[in-house]
Parts: sequence; structure tokens; C-alpha cells
Amino acid sequence: MANDILFGPEQKKLHVGIIMDGNGRWAQRKGLPRFMGHREGAEAARKIIETAPTLDVGTLTIYAFSSDNWNRPPREVATLMNLFRTYLYKEVNNCIRNGIRMSIIGRRDRFDESLLEAIDHAETETQKGSVLHLRVAVDYSARDAILRAALQLNTSQEISREVFSRLLGEEKYTGVHVPDVDILIRSGGEKRLSDFLLWECAYAELFFSNKMWPEFTSGDFSEIVNQFSKRERRFGRVHETAVV
Ligand code: IPE
Ligand code: IPE
Ligand code: MG
Repeated sequence: MANDILFGPEQKKLHVGIIMDGNGRWAQRKGLPRFMGHREGAEAARKIIETAPTLDVGTLTIYAFSSDNWNRPPREVATLMNLFRTYLYKEVNNCIRNGIRMSIIGRRDRFDESLLEAIDHAETETQKGSVLHLRVAVDYSARDAILRAALQLNTSQEISREVFSRLLGEEKYTGVHVPDVDILIRSGGEKRLSDFLLWECAYAELFFSNKMWPEFTSGDFSEIVNQFSKRERRFGRVHETAVV
């Protein structure tokens, strides 16, 4: 079962989720338009992705655009969609070189054709990557993802946490197992989940940074992973060395 994990250092690689928040405020504080913050945010993401494998991270899920972000001004939304498309094409070779497999998670029915092509290209070209599974959440809502997975359940199959996690991770399409989130990071000073990985974060260790996302560095990332390694995860139990 998903929470049936023994005490002590885990052998498996980490799953880190990141809510990359604060791009707009970073730009506004510098007197720049918000889109410049998103551009800088994409640079910050690139560095974090590069660092992830060196920190024993096997799965990295980054929140780039929530389903509720469609409610932003149309110009900001359009800029973000253009940025994703450009980013996807630009990063493919980097990903192949570094053994990174890229998946886009979320809804796809509201993207235009050119973005769908960029997604298909990125996923197909990188599908052999085995060093890091990078999942980029675009038009993503955890509650919608849970509803979609629930609709796939059929009563003739066993219904368990594990089966549900596999449905949610889209394992049957990708063949890649997505473990529960170990570390959840949110930059930008807010302490909320904003509909990100609600099921997968059931026992995640939470870390909040006051830095705006474009200021978040590989050093900040590695400091968080280091702090994580000192936390005691109990999964509801009492530590086996405790006197009862
Ligand atoms: C996160 O930064 C990126 C997206 C949500 C697309 P924001 O754009 O939310 O930046 P702030 O929170 O307004 O500063
Ligand atoms: C969450 O940030 C979504 C992303 C980082 C992509 P928001 O800025 O949209 O979240 P709220 O509105 O502050 O909760
Ligand atoms: Mg925000």
C-alpha cells in the first residue's frame, strides 16, 4: 500500500513537487511588466531541473499554470501559452542530453493546435529519458485530476489507494510509476496548495520559501532537500525505538 513504508532512509528516489509562485510580484517590484517575471521564472525552472538529479530526485512535478489561471487577463494568458510553446521546443535537446523524460499533466482540450504539437513533440522525443521524470502541470487542477481518475474506476477491479494512485499518475499510458510526493515546495511567500497534487501530497513534507520564484536558486533547492533528510517521517506510527 502507498503508505506502507518502513522507517529509516528510503531506497527509492524522491518525488518533489514545486509551486513556482511569485513571478508577477518579482517583476512588479522591479517596475517591469509581469511577463518579464514569467520569462525569468522559466530560467529559474531550468536551473532547478538541472540540479534535481544531483539531489537524488527521480520525479519532479512543477506547477506552471493552474486551471484557475485561465481567469487572468487574456494578454497574460496568451503570453504564458507562447512561453510554454517556446520553452518546450527549446528544452527538448537539453532533456534528451540529460536523460530527462518530460510529461505534461493536466487538461489538454483547451490548448491550441500549435501548443498541442509542441507537447507531443517534447513527450515523444524525451520518452526514453530515465534519469529524471519531469512533469509539467499546465491547465492543471488536482480536484479535476481526481475526478477524471475516479471516472476511470470500474467496479470489477480492485479499488485501493494503490490502484487509484496508478490511475492518477496515468501509468497505463506512460508506463512510468509516479510515487507520492515526498517534498512539496512553494515559493512566493504564500502558504497554500492552490489545487496542486492534493492526493499525492497526503504525507509530503512541506517547505515554504519567501523568495519569489525567479530568485529561487539551486542552492535553495539543495538546502530544502538537506532539511528534508533530517525530518522524521512517521506516517501515523510511533518510531520503533520509542518507549511505549
Ligand atoms: C506563478 O507566478 C506563475 C503562474 C501562476 C503562471 P504568479 O504569476 O502567480 O506571480 P504572483 O503570485 O502574481 O507574484
Ligand atoms: C498557483 O499560483 C499556480 C501556479 C504557481 C502555476 P497562483 O498564484 O495562481 O495561486 P493563488 O491564486 O495565489 O492561490
Ligand atoms: Mg501567484
